[in-house]
Amino acid sequence: MSQDTPGSTTTAPATGVPSDQQGDAISNLLHENRTFAPSPEFAADAVVTAADYAEADADRPAFWARQARELLTWSKDFDQALDWSNPPFAKWFVGGEVNAAYNALDRHVENGLGDRVAIYFEGEPGDTRTYTYAQLTDEVKKAANAFESLGVEKGDRVAVYLPMIPEAVITLLACARIGAVHSVVFGGFSAEALRSRIDDAEAKLVVTADGTYRRGKPSPLKTAVDDALSHEGDGSGHTVQNVVVVKRNGQDVDWHEDRDHWWDDTVGTASTEHTPVGHDSEHPLFILYTSGTTGKPKGILHTTGGYLTQGAYTHKAVFDLHPETDVYWCTADVGWVTGHSYVAYAPLINGATQVMYEGTPDSPHQGRWWEIIQKYKVSILYTAPTAIRTFMKWGRDIPDKYDLTSLRVLGSVGESINPEAWMWYRDVIGANKTPIVDTWWQTETGAQMIAPLPGVTATKPGSAQVPLPGIAVDVVDELGESVPNGHGGFLVIREPWPAMLRGIWGDPERFKDTYWSRFEDMYFAGDGAKKDEDGDIWLLGRVDDVMNVSGHRLSTTEIESALVSHPAVAEAAVVGAADETTGQAVVAFVILRGDAVDSGDAIVQELRNHVGKEIGPIAKPKTILVVPELPKTRSGKIMRRLLKDVAEGRDPGDATTLADNTVMQQIAASLRK
Ligand code: PRX
Repeated sequence: MSQDTPGSTTTAPATGVPSDQQGDAISNLLHENRTFAPSPEFAADAVVTAADYAEADADRPAFWARQARELLTWSKDFDQALDWSNPPFAKWFVGGEVNAAYNALDRHVENGLGDRVAIYFEGEPGDTRTYTYAQLTDEVKKAANAFESLGVEKGDRVAVYLPMIPEAVITLLACARIGAVHSVVFGGFSAEALRSRIDDAEAKLVVTADGTYRRGKPSPLKTAVDDALSHEGDGSGHTVQNVVVVKRNGQDVDWHEDRDHWWDDTVGTASTEHTPVGHDSEHPLFILYTSGTTGKPKGILHTTGGYLTQGAYTHKAVFDLHPETDVYWCTADVGWVTGHSYVAYAPLINGATQVMYEGTPDSPHQGRWWEIIQKYKVSILYTAPTAIRTFMKWGRDIPDKYDLTSLRVLGSVGESINPEAWMWYRDVIGANKTPIVDTWWQTETGAQMIAPLPGVTATKPGSAQVPLPGIAVDVVDELGESVPNGHGGFLVIREPWPAMLRGIWGDPERFKDTYWSRFEDMYFAGDGAKKDEDGDIWLLGRVDDVMNVSGHRLSTTEIESALVSHPAVAEAAVVGAADETTGQAVVAFVILRGDAVDSGDAIVQELRNHVGKEIGPIAKPKTILVVPELPKTRSGKIMRRLLKDVAEGRDPGDATTLADNTVMQQIAASLRK
C-alpha cells in the first residue's frame, strides 16, 4: 500500500479540481472564514440539538443505547450496549432481538400510519407507482413467503442484481424479515463480477429483473445472471438454486425452467400473512462487496441492531427529518451502501416518505431531477458531488426553470465536495438558504460518521466538519499521534461505533490487516484528512490504491489485473487522475506484449471493453496509454505517483529513485507520438 502523506502534492485531490487550485479555493474560503449559521427558524425547529454531543461525550455506549431503544422496537430488550472485549470484533446491543422489516414497516402500520406514503417511485420512462406503508408491508410479507417457499432459510445468502425499482427495497426487507443475508451487486457490474460475488457468499437465491431502462433504451440484466451461472467457475459449480425475475422492461429473456421464476408468479401470488420474528442484534443483515487494495473485492459484513440504530439516528439528525411533512430523496443506487442505509433501511425505519428514481439525470431531458423535486415537493435531497458538478456544467438555467422551494436540506456524499460546487448547490438549488450537509462515511462504517448537524453547525463550504455525536474520529500522524489543528494526517476512528462492519465475509484476518493493523487500537479508514484552525475536518482523498470515480470506489489493482488478463497486455499500471466532473478518472498505462501490435485506437477500445467485461462498465478506463516502459523502483514497485503526474499533465519531477531513470523520458516521448 502506498502511504503518501496526505496534504502533500502527491495526494489525490478528491474534488475534481487540480490540487493547487483546490488549495487556493479552500484557503481563500478559510481566510474569509465563510460559514453559514443555521437560521433561527431552522434551529428552533431542529429535531436534534447540541445537547446530543454532550450526552454522547459523557457516555458513548449509553447514548447509543438510548437511541437504540427510542428509534427501534425491540422484540427482546438488550442487556449490554457494547461488548468490546475482543477487539476489533464488536458486539452492540448484546442479547437484544430485533426485526429490521418489522421496524421499517409493520410497526408503522400498527401505529396508524398505514396510509402514509413510503415510496413514490418514478420510472425512467415516466411510469409511476406509489406505495403506502400498508401496501409496502404487504409486498414485503409476500416476498418473504415466496423466498421461504423457495427454500431460503435464516442465514442463507441471497444475491440481488436489480435496478432502482421498488422490488429492490422489497427484496432487501423481505430477506431481513426472514433473517436471510442479502448481497446486492450493482447492476453496472459484469457477469464475471456477479459470479465471483455469488461464489464468495455462496448465494442460494438470485433476485434480478429482465432489465431496466438507460437513457430511454431497454438495458438487460438477466443475461448477466444467465452468463454468470453458466460459467463453471473453478469447476465446482455454483450454489444458486433459484432465480426470481422481476418483469421490468419486457425484453425477451432466456428461461431455465428448473431454476427461473417470474416475480409475479411467486411473490405476486404469495400470502400477505407473515409473522416477523426477532433476530439477534448481531445477526448478519447483509454483505456488500467493495473494492480494496488487492484484486479481490471485500465482502463487508453488517449486522442488525447497531446498523439500524446508527442509520436511523443519523438519518434523523443529519437531515433534520420531520417524517410527517418531509419528502426525502436519496439519488443513490441500491447497489451501493448509500442505497442500503439511506434508501432501503433508515428512511423506512424513521417512517419517512421517499422518492425513488430509476434512471439517469438527463433522461429524457437535463431537467429531470428538478422536475421530480417539483412534482413530489421533495424537501430533503441527498446526492453526490459528481452529479452537482455535472449540473453546474449544464448550467443554472435548467434548474432555474423549476420550483425548488420545497427543498430545505441538501446532502452530499461519496467524495469531498469542492467549495465551488458546494456554493453552487446552496445558491442555485438551495436558493441561498438551504443548509448543506456534507457527510463522510464508507461502506465499512455503515452509516454517516462526520457531518454537520443542520440546526446546530455553522456550515463551511468544502468541509465535512465534525464527527457526529457518539462517533470518535481523529486525524493522526504516521505514528498515530493526534495532529494539532491546522495539520493533516490520516483519518482514524478511535472508538467502536454501532454501524461498524463486523468483518470481511469469510476472512477475519483480512479484516484485521486491512483496518486495524496500521495504527494500534484504531480503525484506519484509508483516507487522508486535515484539521483546520477551527478543528473542522477536510477530507483529502484516499491514501491507498483505491480510486473514487463519481463517488464509487474502484481498486487500481483490480483494474490492472483485468488489463493483464488480456492476451495483448504484458504489464499495466492504473492511476486515478483528477477529473473535473467525476472527481477522479481511471487512467491506465499499458505495455503490450512483444507480439501484440499497437493498433492505436482499436487496441485501446478492445482493452476498455475487456475491462468492462471483467469488472463492469463503471470500471472502464477513461484513457489508456500504450507506453514502452513503466516507472519502477529498484525493488520493482511501480511508482504510480509519477504516472499520476503524467496523467494530470504535470511534470513528474524527481525520478531519481527509479531503477532506470530514462523511463519517464521514454513515456513522455511515446505520448508525444
Ligand atoms: O474516500 C472516502 C470517500 O468515499 C470512500 C468510501 O466509499 P464507499 O465505501 O463506496 O462509500 C461511499 C458512500 C458512503 C471514503 O473512504 N467519501 C465518502 N464520502 C465522502 C468521501 N470523501 C470526502 N467527503 C465525503 N463526504
